[in-house]
Amino acid sequence: MEKHIDTKCVQSGYSPKSGQPRITPIVQSTTFFYENPEQLARLFDLKESGYFYSRLSNPTCAVLEEKVAALEGGKAALATSSGQAAITLAALNVCNCGDHIISSSAIYGGTYNLFDVTLRKLGIETTFISPDSTAEEIEKHIRPQTKLIYGETVSNPAISVLNFEGYSNAAKKHGILFMVDNTLSSPIHCRPILLGADIVIHSSTKYIDGHATSLGGIIVDSGNFDFKGNKRYADFNTPDQSYHGLIYSKDCGELAFITKARAQLMRDIGACMSPFNAFLTNLGCETLHLRMERTSYNALEIAKTLSSHQKIEFVKYPFLSSDANYGKAEKYLNGGAGGMLSFGVKGGKEKALDFIKNLSVVANVTHVADLRSSVIHPASTTHRQLSRQALAEAGISENLIRFSAGIENINDLTKDILSALKKI
Ligand SMILES: Cc1ncc(COP(=O)(O)O)c(C=O)c1O
Repeated sequence: MEKHIDTKCVQSGYSPKSGQPRITPIVQSTTFFYENPEQLARLFDLKESGYFYSRLSNPTCAVLEEKVAALEGGKAALATSSGQAAITLAALNVCNCGDHIISSSAIYGGTYNLFDVTLRKLGIETTFISPDSTAEEIEKHIRPQTKLIYGETVSNPAISVLNFEGYSNAAKKHGILFMVDNTLSSPIHCRPILLGADIVIHSSTKYIDGHATSLGGIIVDSGNFDFKGNKRYADFNTPDQSYHGLIYSKDCGELAFITKARAQLMRDIGACMSPFNAFLTNLGCETLHLRMERTSYNALEIAKTLSSHQKIEFVKYPFLSSDANYGKAEKYLNGGAGGMLSFGVKGGKEKALDFIKNLSVVANVTHVADLRSSVIHPASTTHRQLSRQALAEAGISENLIRFSAGIENINDLTKDILSALKKI
C-alpha cells in the first residue's frame, strides 16, 4: 500500500520484527563481524548487501536514507556529514577537471562559493544563471562538457522559486543531470523528482532534523537518469579501475549514481553521517509534516502583518500574492513555502539592527529552518564580506532582515515583532 507522506515521516525506514526495539536503534559501531571471510569478500565486491564499515554504510544511517528516499519518491539515498558534503559529493560524482556546471545564481552562499571558488580551483567551471531562466536561455550555455544543471527549490537567502519547467526541459533535451537542493521546501511542500529532478539534495541540518541538533546532508537518487550509453558520462560507462572494473551504468542499473557516490566518493572522501546524528535527524523527521505546516502558516501570517506595517519598506515571501514568485509558488509548491521570509526596515541598517535588539521571543542566530524562530541581519553577518555593489546584486539591502519562522504560537510571534517595531 502506498502510504501518505505524513505516515512515511513517522514510519518509513524502520519496521521492527517481533522482539526488536520499537525505536530505531543507534548502531554506534564502526565495524561489523562476519564468521565467514568469503561473505565479507562478497560484500566488498558489492555482490551481497550488508554492512562492513560505517564510512560506507551503517544501519542507523540506512534508516534515515530509506526514509528520506521514500519522502522524496526516490530509489535510494546517501547520508553525509553536512549539506555542503552532500552537494560536494554529488557534484564530484559527475564532474571532473575540465567539466562544466550550469547553476541558478539564487543558491545558498556556501554552495555558490563551492561552485565559484573551490570547484573552479579543481578545473570545474560554473555558469550562473537566473532562477527564472527558460529552457531556451539555459540551452545557450550548454557545452559538451556540461555535466550538471543545478538549482534550489526555494532559495536561501533570496527566497525565489526555481523555474522547474525551464531547468528540467533543458536538462532532459540534452541528457544532462538535473539536481535540486530542496532544503527549504522539504518534501512536504515540494517533490522535485515529480518536477523533473534526477537528484535531490538536502541539508538535513535544517527542516529534516528541525531541532538544530545535528549537521547532516542527504543525496536522493530518483533512479530516473539513464547513464547507459550517454557520451557525456564516460565515468559511468567505462570500468572503474578503483573498483575492480565495475561499470556503474551496466552493473548498477537505476542505482548507478548513488552506488558510485557511495562506493567511490564516500570511500575516498569519507564525509559520512555519524549514527548518532542519523538517530537524532530521523527522530526530528518523524514530525516534519506537522512542523512544516505550522512553520509555513506562521511565515505567511508574519509576512502579511509586516506587509501592512508603516515601518516596513518591503516583504518577500513566495505566497504573498504581491510577490514576484507567487505564480511559481502556486505552480510548484504544495501547501506552503517554508518558514523563510525577508523584509526591509525603513530607516536603513541602524533601524534594522535596533529592531533585532528589541526582539525577545525571536532570537538572533546564524541558522534557519528549525523550530525556533530566528532572525539575522545578512549585510553585517553572513554577507558582510560583500561590497555595497555585490550586496545590491545579491538583492541584499542594508536594511534587509532574514526571518526564519519557527513553530511557536503565532500570537506570541506577532506581538514580539510589533512590539520591537514600536520601539524603533
Ligand atoms: C539551501 C541550503 N543548502 C545547503 C546548505 C548547507 O548545509 P550545511 O550547513 O548542512 O552544510 C544550507 C545551509 O544553510 C542551505 O540553506
